[in-house]
Amino acid sequence: MKVAVLYGGVSGEREVSLTSGRGMIEALKERGHEVTAIDFHPERANELLTLDVDVVVSALHGKYGEDGRVQSLLEMAGIPYTGSGVLASALAMDKARAKIIFAAFGIRVARDVLIESPKSIDAKVREWGNEFPCVVKPAQEGSSNGLTIAFDEGMLRTGIEKAFACDSAVLVEQYIKGKELTVPVIGSFGQEEALPVIEIIPKNEFYDYESKYTEGGSIHVCPAEIPVELTEEVQQAAILAHRALGCSGYSRSDFLVSDMGEAYILETNTLPGMTPLSLFPDSARTVGISYGELLDRFIDLALK
Ligand code: DAL
Ligand code: MG
Repeated sequence: MKVAVLYGGVSGEREVSLTSGRGMIEALKERGHEVTAIDFHPERANELLTLDVDVVVSALHGKYGEDGRVQSLLEMAGIPYTGSGVLASALAMDKARAKIIFAAFGIRVARDVLIESPKSIDAKVREWGNEFPCVVKPAQEGSSNGLTIAFDEGMLRTGIEKAFACDSAVLVEQYIKGKELTVPVIGSFGQEEALPVIEIIPKNEFYDYESKYTEGGSIHVCPAEIPVELTEEVQQAAILAHRALGCSGYSRSDFLVSDMGEAYILETNTLPGMTPLSLFPDSARTVGISYGELLDRFIDLALK
């Protein structure tokens, strides 16, 4: 099949995407596909509109790649592509709006305050109150870019400034102390299945950028050694989150489970990492799906 792999891009997750893309290009070639690799920058948008391929496989992460913009170009070009469509991609990228939808579907979310302009920082810091530690993050970023765990108001304000350097909206969130779990979901609408749950144990105190992308930076326990009820709960929540946002093909939802055993959804990634250290392929391997087979499944779902 003639496949174009989009990777790289211009988001804060460019390096991660280059690594995801290289892995995909190699695996797709091994499986006999004719692969064109495109380091996608917005100024190359016209090229996408005239691309002569059977399918686009996207390894893009973050802004301009995972947020519906590239998906909309591909819709206009009439080219099938892996992963979610325009609306689901845009919604999932906006953590604050995605959480409103998750809550409406009965999925537990952490309390938050959204700051949509630097002018409202003082009022929003007052609204947040005195709950520390808390998490400060750009509303539309990935891979923990621009994220701060704040232990007091000074750190909160510095964290907000840092997050505003990456994005035009910032989310302040309740810090949930406990286990970090992630759940890949794959399948067409109405037939999604959750793959085995992974527990992530970072070497650093938090699962930050370094522990995500450094060899040995974190341990993935898969399947997670957690009670069967919790496994079922987060798998069902991940499928529900995928459907609530209208995702297609595949997604991966991240959760924190408090010491009280309550699972909170953090976000749904519509183009989750596919690097050799990434969670999705790791989980798939434990049920006998190789990296290359996984890509062919993504392609089959895109062509359905
Ligand atoms: N945002 C990164 C790529 C992930 O969730 O895997
Ligand atoms: Mg993410």
